[in-house]
Amino acid sequence: MRIDIVTLFPNMFSGPFDESIVRRARDNKFVEIVIHNLRDYGLGMHRVVDDYPYGGGSGMVLVPEPLFSAVEAIKGESRIPVILLTPQGRLFTQQVAEELAAYSRFILVCGHYEGVDERVREYLVTDEISIGDYVLTGGEPAAMVVCDAVVRLIPGVLGSPESVRDDSHSGGLLEYPQYTRPQIFRGWEVPPVLLSGNHAEIARWRREQAVLRTLARRPDLLEKADL
Ligand code: ADE
Repeated sequence: MRIDIVTLFPNMFSGPFDESIVRRARDNKFVEIVIHNLRDYGLGMHRVVDDYPYGGGSGMVLVPEPLFSAVEAIKGESRIPVILLTPQGRLFTQQVAEELAAYSRFILVCGHYEGVDERVREYLVTDEISIGDYVLTGGEPAAMVVCDAVVRLIPGVLGSPESVRDDSHSGGLLEYPQYTRPQIFRGWEVPPVLLSGNHAEIARWRREQAVLRTLARRPDLLEKADL
């Protein structure tokens, strides 16, 4: 898979993609993440990327030309998804992550300032995604969230397929409680069923815990869950 990211702040990506599982996925060529500096496509000597909004109002708006130039240079003749990160987009969920994981390539465009020229939404991007109902200073943290959630779904990136299957949200439920050693920690014991060696019993207990936990914490998920 290849993910291209268009941003005004390329340095923001150096930490998060250089550690842990995303790093390993890049090293092992499961994914190539290419960062493009929008400034390189800016207008004139000063590489201008933003301007005042027509009609007045506070803040600056990203002008269309550098965004069109950047995206067109990246995608060439290919027809790949071009996704704008914006609080106005459709909500990013595990289901959307699975949808993106099925593509071999897509482009993420990070919005900034007060917004982007509407013609970018209408004629350049094919999708708009929000990571939640709150406003970030820019799309970069959202792009990182999207990349992280998608990369771990690429087959082979995580050790075992079960770790993806049992994730919170993957079957529409929250994940069951997990325990590891020691068996007794400060007097708090691991549920005996997990030590029983009875795999059917363990599976039943985990399923029950996942349902109870979802009911207690996220009853809204149960309506859509695959029970
Ligand atoms: N840019 C600013 N806020 C955002 C959000 N909640 N999701 C995606 N991109 C954003």
